[in-house]
Amino acid sequence: MLTTWLLTGGAGYIGAHISEALLASGRSVVVLDDMSTGIRTNVPEGVALVEANLLDTAAVRNALIDHEVSGVVHLAAKKAVGESVQRPLWYYAQNLTGTQSVLTAMGEAGVKRMVFSSSASTYGTQPSEMVSEDVVARPESPYGETKLVSEWIIRHVCNADGLAAIALRYFNVVGAARPPLGDRGVFNLVPLALRALTGGRAPQIYGDDYPTRDGTCIRDYIHAIDLAGAHVAAVKALDTGRMGFDVMNVGRGQGVTVREVLASVGAVTGITTAAVVVGRRPGDPAAVVASADKISRELDWRAVHDLTSMVTSAWEAWSHVPVL
Ligand SMILES: NC(=O)c1ccc[n+]([C@@H]2O[C@H](COP(=O)([O-])OP(=O)(O)OC[C@H]3O[C@@H](n4cnc5c(N)ncnc54)[C@H](O)[C@@H]3O)[C@@H](O)[C@H]2O)c1
Repeated sequence: MLTTWLLTGGAGYIGAHISEALLASGRSVVVLDDMSTGIRTNVPEGVALVEANLLDTAAVRNALIDHEVSGVVHLAAKKAVGESVQRPLWYYAQNLTGTQSVLTAMGEAGVKRMVFSSSASTYGTQPSEMVSEDVVARPESPYGETKLVSEWIIRHVCNADGLAAIALRYFNVVGAARPPLGDRGVFNLVPLALRALTGGRAPQIYGDDYPTRDGTCIRDYIHAIDLAGAHVAAVKALDTGRMGFDVMNVGRGQGVTVREVLASVGAVTGITTAAVVVGRRPGDPAAVVASADKISRELDWRAVHDLTSMVTSAWEAWSHVPVL
C-alpha cells in the first residue's frame, strides 16, 4: 500500500528535494513548516502545506490525523552553528523541545515511523579522519548537541513505544536538483564562496595550518539529490517493516580540502579570485569524513554525484536566484 509521509521543515532546501523524491517513489507527502526560513515554492504543487511551529503539538497531531500519515521525516530545525552559540536556549527550544513535541504528537496520533535529520556536527573532533557511527560523539556546539540529544530521545521512544526510526547524519550538503531548489542559506563553504566571488570579494579560508594535505580542513560533501535518495531508501525500509533505531552517516566516504572545493568553484564559475587565509574558527575539526559502509550495507544506498556535479548545480542555482 502506498504511504503518506509528513515532512516537518519540508519547505526548506533539503525538504524540497525529499518531497520530490518521495513523490517520485509513489508516496504521498504533506509538509508542516512555520515558514521561518521556508519557501512556498519549495512545496510541490498538490502537496498540502500546514503552517505551524513544531512546538504546537496539537497542530502537529492534527496534521498527522487529518492526512492519515504513516511516517514523519523530521527536518525542521535551526541550523546555523555560530548562531546556536549565541542563542543556545532558542536552539534547544526549536530543535530539541521541537523534536519532543513531534514525538508526543506522533504518539497521540499512533504514527510509528520516523526519519530524523541529524548531522555530522554530532561528531566533533575525532581521533581518526574517517568516522563510523559507533564512535563516541563529541559535538562542539549547541546545534550539534541538539541533534545528538534528539537522537537519544528518539532511540528511547523506539525502545519504550515501538517507534521505528532512522537518524541520518548528513555531511556537507551541496547542490540542487533544479536551480529553483538551491540553498538560500549562506552558511556553508560553497554558498559563502559564491557570494564572495560574485560580489567581487575573495573567499575566505579559515586556517591553513591544519595537519592535512594542503593545510586546510577536510570534509565530506554530498549532493542534495543523493541525500534525498538516502531518505527514500530509509522510508522504504521503514515502510517494509524495519524496526528499532539506527544512526547512519550520509556521505560519500571521500574527504575534500577547502582549497580543493574552492578550486572546483573557480573552475566551474570561471571566477578565479584567489582566496585569503584568515584565522581558524573555534571548534572546526581538522578532518571529518563519513564512513558510508553502514548505509550502503543496511539500505543499499550510495552516493553517485561527484564534487564537480555538486558545485555546477549550486552555481546554476546561484545564477538563478543569487542570495546577497
Ligand atoms: N544543509 C545542510 O548542510 C545540513 C547538514 C546537516 C543537517 N542538516 C539538517 O537538515 C535539516 C534541513 O535543513 P535545510 O538545510 O533544509 O534548512 P532550511 O532552513 O532550508 O529548512 C528548515 C525548514 O524548517 C522550517 N522550520 C525551522 N524551525 C521550525 C519549527 N520550529 N517549526 C516548524 N518549521 C520550522 C523552516 O521554515 C525551513 O523551511 C535541518 O534539520 C538541518 O539541521 C542540514
